Amino acid sequence: MPCAVTDQPRHVAIIMDGNGRWAKQHSLPRSKGHEQGGRAVERVVDLCLAHGIPWLTLYAFSMENWGRPKAEVNGLMEMLKHFLGKSLPKMQEKGVRLRAIGELELLPEKCRDILTKAVNETQGNSALQLTLALSYGSRQEITAAARKLASLAASGKLSPQDITPELLADHLYTAGMPDPDLLIRTSGEMRLSNYLLWQVSYAELWVTPVLWPDFGEENFEEALAEYATRHRRYGKR
Ligand code: IPE
Ligand code: IPE
Ligand code: MG
Repeated sequence: MPCAVTDQPRHVAIIMDGNGRWAKQHSLPRSKGHEQGGRAVERVVDLCLAHGIPWLTLYAFSMENWGRPKAEVNGLMEMLKHFLGKSLPKMQEKGVRLRAIGELELLPEKCRDILTKAVNETQGNSALQLTLALSYGSRQEITAAARKLASLAASGKLSPQDITPELLADHLYTAGMPDPDLLIRTSGEMRLSNYLLWQVSYAELWVTPVLWPDFGEENFEEALAEYATRHRRYGKR
């Protein structure tokens, strides 16, 4: 059986890591690293648009990140509000549709409001499907899906035999989205950190030592070039 032709990924997922280390390298507070990380988000959105990559999913804040010092968490939430407010007109202009996945009810109300507004107002856009994973954890996502299916089964609306991988996927936050083809992690860490564990089962992985605030065109092109050389066998020969 021939290998699947890889060429260009349809869906790129990124673990945007290394903001703190970048700040340290530049003798700046961590908040500056996160601020520069926001700029890298804008760059990567433009790169996906330029390449005609239709899906981009960014890990912006994990469930575990709630355990960081309060000042950092608050700073990140402030930044998120600022980023969304500033980006909304640009997203409209560029045809970016925003989505968010995660336990969004844990976000401060003002953040949630502005997020909901951006998600609603960009609904009609189709050049790029941009998803922010916020207050997101893959184990929590799979657990929530299991709970929904269990309650359907307990009420007699679903037979346990009818639970398939497809049905479970339909109950994840990512229902309706294609699985990522390429997963990029910056700052050299070789781990998934509770990100899209189910969805990246067959994604190609690419890790770069570059810190997220420094991530730019050259690095993205390198990832795409590497992806194009991969043979996705899906367990076949
Ligand atoms: C990634 O950068 C951003 C978030 C997790 C919110 P970090 O803040 O994890 O930066 P490092 O890993 O400490 O360098
Ligand atoms: C993963 O980075 C989460 C995000 C990029 C939002 P972390 O910095 O939180 O992950 P660990 O702690 O290195 O695994
Ligand atoms: Mg980190």
